[in-house]
Amino acid sequence: MNEYCETYIKISKDALIHNARFFKKDSQKKLIAVIKSNAYGHGLIEVGKILEPVSDLFAVASLDSAVSLRKVGIKIPILVLNPLASDYALVALEHDIMITVSSLAELKQFEQVIKDSESPLKLHLKIDSGMNRMGVKTSSEAKDIIEYNSQKLKIVGIYTHFHSADDEGLSKKQQKLFKDIYEALDTDFEYVHMCSTSAALNKWDLDFTTHVRIGLGLYGICESSDVKPVLSMYSKIMIKKQVLLNETVGYSARFKAREDTWIGVLPCGYSDGIIRANTGRKVYIDGYYCEIVGNVCMNSLMVKLPHQNVSCEVELIGPHISAIEIAKHLKTISYEVVTILPPHIKRIVE
Ligand SMILES: Cc1ncc(COP(=O)(O)O)c(C=O)c1O
Repeated sequence: MNEYCETYIKISKDALIHNARFFKKDSQKKLIAVIKSNAYGHGLIEVGKILEPVSDLFAVASLDSAVSLRKVGIKIPILVLNPLASDYALVALEHDIMITVSSLAELKQFEQVIKDSESPLKLHLKIDSGMNRMGVKTSSEAKDIIEYNSQKLKIVGIYTHFHSADDEGLSKKQQKLFKDIYEALDTDFEYVHMCSTSAALNKWDLDFTTHVRIGLGLYGICESSDVKPVLSMYSKIMIKKQVLLNETVGYSARFKAREDTWIGVLPCGYSDGIIRANTGRKVYIDGYYCEIVGNVCMNSLMVKLPHQNVSCEVELIGPHISAIEIAKHLKTISYEVVTILPPHIKRIVE
């Protein structure tokens, strides 16, 4: 992590806790906090420590993230959402981490690897209700897994994932498929979950689920006035430079001054998650919205200043420029704006 750099990320503890409490209260379910991909770029360990007291389970994509959480003393249950190569099943067991299972063949491979262990490996069965990514599609496949008799394996959870939570017809179809399989199994699971952020906000949950599984909403970057953005990102103008009429700025001379212009140079670029498509969008400096001009470089970018004497503090993402607006400029989704912010940027929790 960079200590000696003026580009940094601020994480609001209050906003994170507020958002977690909102989803628990609104859904009346327990909370699975999705903190995969470095907690959506917010910082896995920082977010894990803040959310542990208000979460019932953490969901991550990789076993590595799960182990990192255990190593800093996180005690609550952890589930790995991505498929795990069976070779690593013992590591999961050693750190008391739950794994997602999507087929009987996979289940048998896990059993083989952990055959000499004392405690059972805890698993969540994934139901594919239409995403066509992971999970079983039929109740007979699900039954084969649930009824597979092994002292070494314990299926403690069952879940599915909505692929188009803003579409009522498609979501109702997924609800029905999940419900039919769940009922056919007639099993008491400790964890039954289906709703991610937009599914929870659209109220697609069913009575028999126990948890909601929330990512984006925890970070406050979904279209809801009930949540608060958690992340902001700042940098500093390190150099102010006057470019004269018709001079150009940066690689490929992309920006050409139409008049004598003050330019600010910031120590962050595409290797800091501010990708080249950010050219043309605004940052906020001293009460002014200032345009990023020229091609963004690997470690620096240039902004057009209203005059020489603006202060040097720059908001790249924050109260004046939301991740949602930036996503629109980049023609992507807000998930991508934050998850690409790399771990080397300092995170300050406030
Ligand atoms: C399986 C699964 N569950 C939950 C989530 C969280 O979704 P969201 O960030 O929309 O709440 C994701 C996100 O990608 C996911 O893949």
